[in-house]
Amino acid sequence: MNHASKCILSTQCKLANSESCNAHCPHFIALHGLNGVSGRVATAGTPRDYRLVTASNSPARAEQASVYRAVDAYIKTFERQFDAEGERIKSLYLFSESPGTGKTTTASVLLNEWLIAHYIGSLRLGLQPLQQPAYFLDVNNWQTLYNEFNRNNIPREIAETASREYYKQMKYAKTAPFVVFDDLGIRDASQPFKADLHSVINHRVTNKMPSVYTSNLPITEMEFVFDKRLYDRVRDFCLVILFDGESNRGMRR
Ligand SMILES: Nc1ncnc2c1ncn2[C@@H]1O[C@H](COP(=O)(O)OP(=O)(O)O)[C@@H](O)[C@H]1O
Ligand SMILES: [Mg+2]
Repeated sequence: MNHASKCILSTQCKLANSESCNAHCPHFIALHGLNGVSGRVATAGTPRDYRLVTASNSPARAEQASVYRAVDAYIKTFERQFDAEGERIKSLYLFSESPGTGKTTTASVLLNEWLIAHYIGSLRLGLQPLQQPAYFLDVNNWQTLYNEFNRNNIPREIAETASREYYKQMKYAKTAPFVVFDDLGIRDASQPFKADLHSVINHRVTNKMPSVYTSNLPITEMEFVFDKRLYDRVRDFCLVILFDGESNRGMRR
C-alpha cells in the first residue's frame, strides 16, 4: 500500500508514491516505526493529531499567510544544524491571545520539519541520524506531573510514577537538539517548578539549542508569570510571531 500520505518524508522522498513506498520502507520505519509505536515521530512526543503535519500540508497555512512566510524562511535555517561554525539557529515564540489559531499546529509543523531536515541531512552526510533529534514538551502536562508528586498524602506508587515521568521529560527537553515548549505560562507555577523550567531553558540557551515556545500571553508577560531570569532567557535570540484571527477549534475543514 502507498504510504506517501502517512509519511512526513514524502514531499522530499524520491521513492514517494512508487512501489517501494510502503510500511517496509526503512526510511518510513525510521520516522514512523512499525505500527506507529516507535520511530522518531512517536519518540518526539508530539500529540497524535499533529504527527503528520508539515509545512506543505498545514491546515493553518491558508489563514496565517504572513506567519507561514516567516515559518518557511525559518525552516530554511534548519540546515545549519550540521554546521557547528554556522550562524546560530533562532528560537521562536508563537503567540496569540485566543486559543485555536494554529500555534500548536505550527509548532508541530516546525518539529516535523526539523525531523525531516535532520534525517535527510544526516543520510546525505553519511551520519547516523539521532534517535531523538526533537522533543515536544507539553508544559501543562509537565506541570501536572510535578504537582502529582508534590501533593501531600499521595500514594507512593503514584508519586513515583509521576516523578519518574517528570524527570524523563525534563531530560529529553534538555538534551534534544530541537524542542517545542507548548503552552508556556498559562497557570500559576510554584517556585521549585519554575526553577526546573528555568534550568531546562537556561541549559538550552547557554548551549545555543533552538526552541519553539507557544503561549497565550505576550512574551513581555513572561517576566511576571515566571521571573526576570527566565524572561531574559526566553527572549534570548528569539523571534516573536503573532497569530491573529478567531479560534478554529472544533471546526471541521
Ligand atoms: N488557521 C487555521 N485554519 C484552519 N484550521 C486551523 C487553523 N488553526 C488551527 N486550526 C485547527 O484548529 C485546531 C486547534 O489548533 P491549534 O494549533 O491546537 O491551536 P492553538 O494551539 O493556537 O490553540 C486544530 O484542529 C487545527 O488543525
Ligand atoms: Mg495550543
